[in-house]
Amino acid sequence: MTQDYTQYQAPDNLLQDKVILVTGAGDGIGKAAALSFARLGATVVLLGRTVEKLEQVYDQIEAEGGPQPAIVPLNLEAASHVEYKQIAETIEQEFGRLDGLLLNAAILGDIRPLEFYPMELFEKVMQTNVNAQFMLVRSLLPQLRQSDQGSIIFTTSSVGRVGRANWGAYAISKFAIEGMMQTLADELKDTSNIKVNCINPGATRTQMRASAYPAEEPASVCPPEAIMPLYNFLMGADSAGVTGQSLDAQKK
Ligand SMILES: NC(=O)c1ccc[n+]([C@@H]2O[C@H](COP(=O)([O-])OP(=O)(O)OC[C@H]3O[C@@H](n4cnc5c(N)ncnc54)[C@H](OP(=O)(O)O)[C@@H]3O)[C@@H](O)[C@H]2O)c1
Repeated sequence: MTQDYTQYQAPDNLLQDKVILVTGAGDGIGKAAALSFARLGATVVLLGRTVEKLEQVYDQIEAEGGPQPAIVPLNLEAASHVEYKQIAETIEQEFGRLDGLLLNAAILGDIRPLEFYPMELFEKVMQTNVNAQFMLVRSLLPQLRQSDQGSIIFTTSSVGRVGRANWGAYAISKFAIEGMMQTLADELKDTSNIKVNCINPGATRTQMRASAYPAEEPASVCPPEAIMPLYNFLMGADSAGVTGQSLDAQKK
C-alpha cells in the first residue's frame, strides 16, 4: 500500500538553499507551490506565460521576506528549442544547478467526445501538456544532475489513469505524463540522485477547475494551499528514495 503523505508537516528550513523551477507559477496550484517552496527557504524560478501574474508572485515572495526569486517568461505552446536551451544556460550561469522542477502548467482544451474534438486543439493541448514537459526535462537534466538530491514532479490527473468519456486531449496528455514519469524514473534510478514522481492534485479550486465544472460552487472545492504537504514532501529531503510513484495530494 502507498503511504499517505497528504498530512506531511515540513520543517521550516526544508528547502533552504534549494533552487526550484515551477511552471505555471503565476496562478492556481503553481502559484501556491511557488509561495510554499519560498516559505520553506527555496529560491524559486517562476516560469509562466503571463508576466504580470509572475510579478505578483515575485512581489509576494519578497514582501514575505523569502529568497529573491527569478522570473522566466515562456509560452509553452509556442516556445522553440532555442528558448529551452537558453533557460538551461541562464540557470547554469545564475545558480550552477537546479534542485527541483515542478512541471505544473497545463491546459484543459475542450470537454467533448474525441469524435468531435477539433484537430488543432488536440495539437495545442499535446504541445503544451506533453511536448513542452519533455523539452523542459531534456534541457534541464544537466542542471538537475548537479544537485545532491534532485526532484522532478510531473502533474497528472485521475483522468490520466483511467480513461473517461469526453475528457479528450487533456486525459490523453495526462496518460502520456504518467508514462514519461515512469520512463524517466526508471532511467534515472541507478544513475543519478534525482527522484521522479507524479502528483494528482485532485479537485482543486482554480481557473481550470472552474472551466471544467462551471456549475460547481468554488467554495466547495479544496483550495490550492491545502494540497501543498505532498508537494513539499516530494521536493524535500524526507522523500529520499521515493521515485516512480504517482501520488494523490488529497485523501480519497
Ligand atoms: N485544479 C484541479 O482540480 C486539477 C485537478 C487535476 C489536475 N490538475 C493539474 O494541475 C495543474 C495545475 O492546474 P491548475 O488547476 O492550477 O490550472 P490553472 O489555474 O489553469 O493554472 C495553470 C497555469 O499554467 C499556466 N499555463 C497554461 N498554459 C501555459 C503556456 N502555454 N505556457 C506557460 N504557462 C502556461 C497558466 O498561466 P496563465 O495564468 O498565464 O494562463 C497558469 O499559471 C495542471 O497540470 C492540471 O492539469 C488540476
